[in-house]
Amino acid sequence: MAEWEQLESEISQAIANARDESELESVRVAVLGKKGKITALLKDIPNMSPEKRQMEGAELNKLRNKLTENIIKRRAAFKAAFMQDRLAEEYVDVTLPTRKGPLENGQIHPVSRVMEEVTAIFMDLGFEVVEGSDIETEFYNFTALNFPVGHPAREMHDTFFLQPDKAGERKLLRTHTSPVQIHTMKTRPPPLRIIAPGRTYRCDSDQTHTPMFHQLEGLVLDKSSHLGHMKWVLGEFCKVFFENKDIRIRFRPSFFPFTEPSMEVDICCTHSAQQIRCGEGNEWLEILGCGMVHPNVLRNCALDPQKYQGFAWGMGIDRLAMLKYGMPDLRAFFEADIHWLGHYGFHPLDVAGFTGRNQK
Ligand code: DAH
Repeated sequence: MAEWEQLESEISQAIANARDESELESVRVAVLGKKGKITALLKDIPNMSPEKRQMEGAELNKLRNKLTENIIKRRAAFKAAFMQDRLAEEYVDVTLPTRKGPLENGQIHPVSRVMEEVTAIFMDLGFEVVEGSDIETEFYNFTALNFPVGHPAREMHDTFFLQPDKAGERKLLRTHTSPVQIHTMKTRPPPLRIIAPGRTYRCDSDQTHTPMFHQLEGLVLDKSSHLGHMKWVLGEFCKVFFENKDIRIRFRPSFFPFTEPSMEVDICCTHSAQQIRCGEGNEWLEILGCGMVHPNVLRNCALDPQKYQGFAWGMGIDRLAMLKYGMPDLRAFFEADIHWLGHYGFHPLDVAGFTGRNQK
């Protein structure tokens, strides 16, 4: 019996010492396998005397059952530990915020955003979007718009000229979107109700001017549209764009060669140290130029000024963006600074329109 106790303690030790399931399996085979130690002892039982068999046979079976049970327990412990390790390793904290995908990282530039907003407002009023090209001829940019050759207004535009082509024609980067009026009137019969957003260029750079900027041109031409219609259209635009139905605007006499009479529109605002607030206060800020289409412009497009009349306007998109979203320096718009864009940009899924400031 002492021999068995010795054996039992040895085997129990071996079970306890097994470091993993495969070591435990080796112990099991060595003890309870076909050629195992306990199996050999059990095989010997039939050869024992009846008394001994009664005593030792029963004890031996008990021992086998006990060891088997120990092995099963130990194996279960290994399995549980393995599962525990795996769970720890593959742990995912589902409460963590998800990593930002390209959609959340990307920001819509304020110019694109305001371009969309302005376009949407005029489209709601029934205007159609027309596009022009950035490279123009002097005819479309100036002559057809009633800028006489040598007139100082041409110089005021600080034009970027391209090298003359083979025919000696000097093309230029359009200084305003007004040439789109000419292209439209020359190719399509009235009635016309169009807007033309796009890039424009002038050799100018300071806090409120950049060499490339954006404008949106508007033109209404038919047989009866007059100044009253123009005031209403531009007034409605300001109310919706600045989200203030009581916004005060004023029409101030001005000069453009292509309109008669010509006006500029100002909106009221307050000016504090770093901030401009639109729609309230006693100061005025210019936001666009407008007027009745000049008869000479109609003639230049082969339209009869006795028959047709209408109004036009041009607004600076970048300027409108600065005013609406309180951005102090226009040059920052085109510096491609990701931090600036992160601050002033818009989420791509924000609905462009009249839903108020970008919420962040
Ligand atoms: N083209 C003018 C500019 O760039 C803006 C403008 C004024 C456009 C009056 C118009 C208009 O259509 O009628 O300064």
